[in-house]
Amino acid sequence: MSTIDKTATVPAPRENSDHNGPLLEVRDLHVEFHTRDGVAKAVNGVNYSVDAGETLAVLGESGSGKSVTAQAVMGILDMPPGKIPQGEILFRGEDMLKMSDEERRKIRGRKIAMIFQDALSSLNPVLSVGYQLGEMFRVHHGLSKKDAKVKAIELMDKVKIPAAKARVSDYPHQFSGGMRQRIMIAMALALEPDLIIADEPTTALDVTVQAQVMDLLAELQREYNMGLILITHDLGVVADVELYAIKGLPPNLLKVPSGCAFNPRCPKATDLCRTEIPALVPVTEQDGADLPGRKSACHFWKETIHG
Ligand SMILES: Nc1ncnc2c1ncn2[C@@H]1O[C@H](COP(=O)(O)OP(=O)(O)O)[C@@H](O)[C@H]1O
Ligand SMILES: [Mg+2]
Repeated sequence: MSTIDKTATVPAPRENSDHNGPLLEVRDLHVEFHTRDGVAKAVNGVNYSVDAGETLAVLGESGSGKSVTAQAVMGILDMPPGKIPQGEILFRGEDMLKMSDEERRKIRGRKIAMIFQDALSSLNPVLSVGYQLGEMFRVHHGLSKKDAKVKAIELMDKVKIPAAKARVSDYPHQFSGGMRQRIMIAMALALEPDLIIADEPTTALDVTVQAQVMDLLAELQREYNMGLILITHDLGVVADVELYAIKGLPPNLLKVPSGCAFNPRCPKATDLCRTEIPALVPVTEQDGADLPGRKSACHFWKETIHG
């Protein structure tokens, strides 16, 4: 898994806070699953941070721990079997892992919202979308049914669902995949969170619709000055980067290889790679590469960059 900082705008804090650091900072996060067959080490020392108005793209092959990291941040990890043996998840400087359930609940949805890949299984099939959107306002702001419906229509307009007023009583299955994903975005926006985590938000959509949904998300992010963590395995979604994909499958997490986790699949691996975990180091100009702000965890990144 790698992260790419796609800073959109200069961050401006949305609320007064004596905290000057990033909106969200994940430090040395480890997540493991205790299964009958042993301990699966799904996340091993992830670090990232994102600020208001910033987009952080989290890229990685299937099974590399992207969703598990996001679930840990949202506080929706299944524990057990999941366990966080090490690390910090700082929201405005406060470690969410040390908070009470009650404190975490206040952040979830209100401060940090999540958009999942599969809108159809996230929405309730037997309730109208208007009811489900309105529920956010009834539960969190105590609005009446009627006022909540007005808010739901506003949100549907906001995410550019045509004829929102006429469609507010429709059920999820009556919308196309792209429109359903817009409804998911509307749900996430409802409480005006500081941060949205979008986990493969367009994977289930076809390419033209993907682009529309991504554009909408970027537009709303700017308008609300939110932080956005965009998780994807699809390089096309973050098209201005071209990364080399290493062939083969991720390792068995019950038996993560010693040294670099990629060593069994890497054509350039040496004994060093099989014994020592490479440190994450800045890729600086002095080293002959013009990649300011980038870091690499590869013993041979210099050679690799220079082909
Ligand atoms: N509840 C769970 N119990 C056991 N293993 C899990 C659980 N949830 C996720 N995993 C494992 O953690 C690894 C990382 O999964 P995930 O974060 O979903 O990957 P991705 O990068 O594709 O989002 C996978 O090997 C997955 O099987
Ligand atoms: Mg995933």
